[in-house]
Amino acid sequence: MEKIKLVVVDDSMETRNNIKMLLSFEKRIEVIGEAENGEEAVFVVKESRPDIVLMDINMPVVDGIRATEEISLSVPGTTVIIMSVQGEMEYVRKAMTAGARDFLSKPFNGDELARTIIKTYDLESKRREKVSVPRQHEEIDSKVITVFSTKGGVGKTTIASNLAVCIARSTKKKVALLDLDLQFGDIAIMLNVSVKNTISDLIKEINQLDSSLMEEYLVTHFSGVKVLPAPIKPEYAEYITGNHVEKIINALRESYHYIIIDTSANFHETVLTSLDMSDRILLVSTLDLPTIKNVKAGLDVMETLHYPKDKINIVLNKASEQYGIKYKDFENTLRHPISFYIPEDSQTVITSANKGFPFVMTRTETKVAKAIMDICSKTTNELSGVRDNKPAIRKLFG
Ligand SMILES: Nc1ncnc2c1ncn2[C@@H]1O[C@H](COP(=O)(O)OP(=O)(O)O)[C@@H](O)[C@H]1O
Ligand SMILES: [Mg+2]
Repeated sequence: MEKIKLVVVDDSMETRNNIKMLLSFEKRIEVIGEAENGEEAVFVVKESRPDIVLMDINMPVVDGIRATEEISLSVPGTTVIIMSVQGEMEYVRKAMTAGARDFLSKPFNGDELARTIIKTYDLESKRREKVSVPRQHEEIDSKVITVFSTKGGVGKTTIASNLAVCIARSTKKKVALLDLDLQFGDIAIMLNVSVKNTISDLIKEINQLDSSLMEEYLVTHFSGVKVLPAPIKPEYAEYITGNHVEKIINALRESYHYIIIDTSANFHETVLTSLDMSDRILLVSTLDLPTIKNVKAGLDVMETLHYPKDKINIVLNKASEQYGIKYKDFENTLRHPISFYIPEDSQTVITSANKGFPFVMTRTETKVAKAIMDICSKTTNELSGVRDNKPAIRKLFG
């Protein structure tokens, strides 16, 4: 059964965490996003189109009533449930007029909460008499993109998470993000998704694994990207093998158009499997000598593995020539061209990581976001065989 997708809106982080905790045992409900005021709520809901929004009334910036009104008008597929404290009946009435379908009085327990959400959802589904369109079975052309480096701290996770979100938004295709930094993976934190299961839980059922079982282990980010988080404890990593990774990627291939993989900075067999199975490797470097030395060593390994040269794209992160190394020298040392340049912008990158809102969604005007969008469009175009054929036409007719 499809899970009920929920967004939680409250200005108190404690309340939001409480609600997530209360719902963590509910199999039918999945919290896919949260917001701390009405304005953020409208943004998150428009992006993620949840089934239900749990909305606080009194919040800064834009209050719950105005947000409810906006959501009811512009995202009619989403149902709002208002949360109020005793004595706010006048506000509750206003919220219901604005389009809310039900309300919950604080404080509530997990049981009341889940019951109200499920009841409201079932009623709404009936009311809409959703005609379910039978799913056509189609072969999916699936592409695997691995973000890799032989050096830590160069931006792999930042690039992998923003790239996944960018691809999901620009192609409207199904995107899965696999965290293969098995010891210290931080994709789930970077995207602020609430983790129920991780890859460690999944491998217990690895022999039954198919695309539908896979769905139960994936968590939804509000951009639509599905995430398979890394283990909660570093010591769980050692139980995961290359063979497991192969099965996981194959199961994802059945229903995801793009599989983006974040990795650790070594050639562990799990990472090697993902590199082998990749259609494209984004090899991330920065412009300092220790990193260049390590990336060069990594490229040499991939050469021994006979990867075709155009399977590997070098991404230069925090790119700048001001520290004394020129791009040309870097390319000459590596004997490989730089495909993409990402500028340094700590303010944008770190704020967005702390909020769990990827900068390719919220800070699209920045150079760093534009750089990721460039990787996103060029890579998806190349992998789907779209070529910019203008030069050829010019050659013929110019
Ligand atoms: N282009 C950038 N500008 C500024 N800071 C960045 C940039 N890319 C990454 N960072 C920061 O560098 C640190 C390491 O990035 P991360 O993506 O976690 O690297 P890795 O996954 O390779 O270890 C993080 O603090 C991140 O916010
Ligand atoms: Mg990382």
